[in-house]
Amino acid sequence: MIVAIDGPAASGKGTLARRLAQHLGLPHLDTGLLYRATARVLMDEGRDLSDVAAAVAVARGLALLDFDEKRLRGRDMGEAASRVAAMPEVRKALVESQRDFAHRHEGAVLDGRDIGTVICPDAEVKIFVTASPETRATRRALELKNQGEKVDYAAVLEDIRKRDERDATRSTAPLHPAEDAVILDTTTLDVAAAFKMALAIVEKASVAKAGPQLIP
Ligand code: DC
Repeated sequence: MIVAIDGPAASGKGTLARRLAQHLGLPHLDTGLLYRATARVLMDEGRDLSDVAAAVAVARGLALLDFDEKRLRGRDMGEAASRVAAMPEVRKALVESQRDFAHRHEGAVLDGRDIGTVICPDAEVKIFVTASPETRATRRALELKNQGEKVDYAAVLEDIRKRDERDATRSTAPLHPAEDAVILDTTTLDVAAAFKMALAIVEKASVAKAGPQLIP
């Protein structure tokens, strides 16, 4: 079973995807890390983030599960990743490896922005996780604070709004729910409640996939 979890920045999709994968015993790929890692390498090499040829070369060379997450999670990296992710050529370079990951095993959980719409339109489960920008900014600010970063809530909210705008209006694979996605608004839900709802969505899809059962 392929579970596609999409949604805007800091909606809680990563936490949900990790928990679902653990619960279901499936491998998990946080696809945001691919764009973050591409941006990180460009920055480390002193290249311009708008250098398409360099970004494509970096994206092609990424090892999918070998990320130094700590270096990729900082506040500046979300913005840099969003810029790199707006390049159609970079997205194209990353499509196959994401699809291979999804189809390599008995199933997988992938989270990102375009999993249900572009990477795995055939996914059995599609969940679009969202929350108000203010709630997402509060969560992201707390996360950054816990990582030891100095945080200014207003700046984090501004980042989130800017990133939403760029991710939703880019020409290739813009952020939007797939037609057959279930929308899960976590604005008023804690992690446990959101997980319970996500699991119910997965279980309903598993029953639908199994088809009608004969009652002996
Ligand atoms: O989910 P995240 O915050 O780690 O993602 C970082 C950026 O990467 C995000 O602003 C948009 C981009 N992204 C994308 O365009 N497509 C994906 N499947 C995942 C992330």
